[in-house]
Amino acid sequence: KHIVILISGRGSNMEAIVQACAAGGWPARIAAVISNRPDAAGLAFAQAHGVPTAVVDHKAFGKGDAARVAFDAELQRVIDGFSPDLVVLAGFMRILTPGFTAHYAGRMLNIHPSLLPAFPGLHTHQRAIEAGCRVAGATVHFVTAELDHGPIVAQAVVPVLDGDDEAALAARVLRLEHRMYPSAVRWFVEGRLAVEGARVRHAGGEP
Ligand code: GRF
Repeated sequence: KHIVILISGRGSNMEAIVQACAAGGWPARIAAVISNRPDAAGLAFAQAHGVPTAVVDHKAFGKGDAARVAFDAELQRVIDGFSPDLVVLAGFMRILTPGFTAHYAGRMLNIHPSLLPAFPGLHTHQRAIEAGCRVAGATVHFVTAELDHGPIVAQAVVPVLDGDDEAALAARVLRLEHRMYPSAVRWFVEGRLAVEGARVRHAGGEP
């Protein structure tokens, strides 16, 4: 199976997936890493690991709804050039158009650093601290037109500790993300995930 990973920046989740896949035993390979920002730090890691990279710079498309549609169309063309079975959003900081999400329905995953449906959107860690949450975590989900919604594949929790600031909590959650996202991607390429309406069924039980 072919996996295409989309990034916008650091790409540490992409790194974790590339490394887990390279370690072997996956019925899949990473076909490409694509960024909407030419300066995304993660591109160098992908290139150093022999993974093809591409950039579709959203800034070249201007602003507004028409620009968004044109960007998504070009992004889709570049992604589909790699014949993906699965598209993985890993810190891809773009709102996607409904046409784009429909095209990849059931074959596009995202990771979000909160326990959805709590705290969709940005600044999740600060919001969790301010709300007095005693636990935080991350969610892997299938992507639908609605931002940070869609059938949930996996969730895991970490404690929020007294004295945590945003950076401390973000770092704890990120370590968790690096374990759970490769696992979830592997479940998909092994054919163990099926979307049934709003829910995900794990073949053979949740691993
Ligand atoms: C992660 O916290 C991810 O959950 C969120 O953006 C961050 C991306 O980090 N969507 P990285 O680029 O994978 O290092």
